[in-house]
Amino acid sequence: MKPAMRPMDYVGRALSCDGVVLADIAAKVGTPCYVYSAATILANYHAYDDALQGVPHTVCYAMKANGNLAILRLLAAAGAGFDIVSGGELYRVLKAGGDPAKVVFSGVGKTSEEIDAALAAGIFAFNCESEPELALVDALAHRRGIKARVALRVNPDVAADTHAHIATGSLGHKFGVDIGQAEAVYERARLYENLLLEGVSCHIGSQQFDFEPMMKAADRVLELIACLRAKGFDIRHADLGGGLGVTYRPDEPAPPIAEFTAALREKVAGYDLHLFLEPGRSIVGNAGVLITRVLYRKKSGDKEFVVVDAAMNDLIRPALYDAHHEILPLRATSADCGLRADVVGPVCESGDFLAQDRQMPEVFPGDLLAVCTTGAYGFAQASNYNARPRPVEVLIENGSWRVIRKRETFDDLIRGE
Ligand code: LLP
Repeated sequence: MKPAMRPMDYVGRALSCDGVVLADIAAKVGTPCYVYSAATILANYHAYDDALQGVPHTVCYAMKANGNLAILRLLAAAGAGFDIVSGGELYRVLKAGGDPAKVVFSGVGKTSEEIDAALAAGIFAFNCESEPELALVDALAHRRGIKARVALRVNPDVAADTHAHIATGSLGHKFGVDIGQAEAVYERARLYENLLLEGVSCHIGSQQFDFEPMMKAADRVLELIACLRAKGFDIRHADLGGGLGVTYRPDEPAPPIAEFTAALREKVAGYDLHLFLEPGRSIVGNAGVLITRVLYRKKSGDKEFVVVDAAMNDLIRPALYDAHHEILPLRATSADCGLRADVVGPVCESGDFLAQDRQMPEVFPGDLLAVCTTGAYGFAQASNYNARPRPVEVLIENGSWRVIRKRETFDDLIRGE
């Protein structure tokens, strides 16, 4: 299966996804609303999985990108594993019927409660990011009378070509252990009788278009594995993280998952390793849109504003990472009206924008717009800022659609207070 270049496209004048007219969904569930394509999510997953046929591998979906239970269920049923970073993510994976034996646990700040819950669940491995964390995992495994499989997450000191907030693989970043120190750390960790030191892991950043840094990081990890094996460590798996980008602008080509994965497959060939990958964005990113309704148009000085009902609390990527998301009208208009505008939400901050100085079609209050490629790190990073209930989420599957998370209510907003 080939992932669609543009999962959302016009059929006639109606922006549609997998045969469903998006405006029909908005009419029923209101706006703002996230809509995802099950077919695209599965096609992206299979692009990884198929390209790795013949190599022992597990594709662990980095569920931080989008942790909705329906999406986790979809991927679990397709055979995916999961990359988790918190006790809450473990809870979600288990609720969704994910197989704990295919779960890897990443993150620099795992608490003892989270580690213990993961041991109890029987996850595959911890990607440990520091020596004190190794000591803690060892102690908690001892208390349970079990052995914990561990991969040290190394920082390969390879700069990823991406936004500073989401680069993780250079010295000076909080992630992992300097690769130059790794052998010594493995040596000292021999003392820990309750650890199975069987892996090495690495993740250098997100939204990467250039494969080269990722390949360089892979080379460094493989060199380390050869050294460790020479010292008698029984290294059986390499976890090369996630990070492959998606196309946010219409003129960018999509980074081909299959090509990238095939290159990795060649790298690990002959190493007798089980390969783990942790893709998040490239599985769900292009599978989702955020639908929003135009509320007003206004001007300030020379500037034009299109005020919509979705805001930075619903989608923070433009404000936080200067991210570009295409904005398409749900009903195509042919006339180019020369409008350049900032598309802004109701939140009381000037940082609340979905697009700045963007060429827009003619839009009027009541019109519907789709903010594209928001399946990853969209709802997942949504908040209740300004006491705004988080949006409803909808999944299109097999030609029909259903709500997979209700719109929050005002009661949801004050629960627990
Ligand atoms: N593995 C680890 C250890 C990670 O930290 C991440 C992402 C992934 C895998 C998945 O990376 P992906 O395949 O999705 O690039 N909120 C930001 C992205 C943060 C990425 C954090 N870590 C954004 O919206 O751009």
